[in-house]
Amino acid sequence: MKIVTKLLMTLGLTLIFSMSVYAQEGGKTKTLPPLDSDALEQWGGEAGVRNWVESLFYYIMLDNRINHIFREFGNIERQIFLNTQLEQLVLGGDVEYQGASMAAAHADLGITVTQFNAVVEAAYLSLIHI
Ligand code: HEM
Repeated sequence: MKIVTKLLMTLGLTLIFSMSVYAQEGGKTKTLPPLDSDALEQWGGEAGVRNWVESLFYYIMLDNRINHIFREFGNIERQIFLNTQLEQLVLGGDVEYQGASMAAAHADLGITVTQFNAVVEAAYLSLIHI
């Protein structure tokens, strides 16, 4: 795969994990550039997204900074299913997300910045398999 394609996919991933279409800049909100209209297709549709989410969870469960949280509070099959829905939605897919809001799902977990960054790192590493 071309490096440019990988970089674009990484950008797409950043967008997904920012979970927001806005970036804070100088106290003002700035709209991020839109994704390609065929972004979901570029990721291989639902099957492609699911493959990536599965890879992501392998990396998460290899990381001792965070795997204990997922072992104790998570349900990996449910999370793979729901993250696949969510990420298709972010990529412009006509999909209904059936899970809890991000606030409701994570509020009681006491996630630290280091733990959050570990999940982002896992997402970055899992892109190697795309
Ligand atoms: C980076 C952005 C993140 C996204 C897009 C995301 C997405 C999700 C989704 C879709 C669910 C399922 C909600 C449901 O069951 O209805 C979930 C649950 C969960 N997430 Fe995340 N997550 C993120 C970050 C994190 C981080 C950083 C951690 C911990 C280090 C984490 C730990 C968990 C756990 C343990 C659950 C299960 C909670 C429960 O069932 O009570 N997540 N997340």
